Amino acid sequence: MFALLEADLNRRILGCGDGPASFNAEASDRGCQVISCDPGYQFDVEEIRRRIDEVYPEIIVQMQQRADDYLWDSLSSVEQLGEVRMKAMSSFLADFNAGTREGRYVSASLPSLPFFDSEFELAICSNCLFL
Ligand SMILES: C[S@@+](CC[C@H](N)C(=O)[O-])C[C@H]1O[C@@H](n2cnc3c(N)ncnc32)[C@H](O)[C@@H]1O
Repeated sequence: MFALLEADLNRRILGCGDGPASFNAEASDRGCQVISCDPGYQFDVEEIRRRIDEVYPEIIVQMQQRADDYLWDSLSSVEQLGEVRMKAMSSFLADFNAGTREGRYVSASLPSLPFFDSEFELAICSNCLFL
């Protein structure tokens, strides 16, 4: 989604509002240096899993009602999108405890983040809407 180049993956990366996505798990697995921050990381893995299970059916119904508002170039249906997202969330959940111990998942909220100036070389942010 971010169209990152190999050179980008060698940078110190901050993922803002990373939520229950798998970027950190997958990139760390490849040896990248990634820290993710999100206010949701204050909860433990079972609380996050419960919340995912609660909201997932509702989000799928809402997506089905609005399916025509989306571009279906890389994914072909709401059901396929649901499968892809659930797979990503499973990778996240499997990585969350170890990643938290390693300091890769940090509970924090924009606009005030607990990092030093220049601590990162690249910041990425996907699907983070301020309502
Ligand atoms: C729609 S989710 C997107 C999660 C992930 N980036 C993805 O693409 O799957 C939006 C995320 O923004 C996080 N968020 C909300 N307010 C935030 C803030 N002030 N600072 C950082 N993250 C925030 C939420 O907790 C949630 O995980």
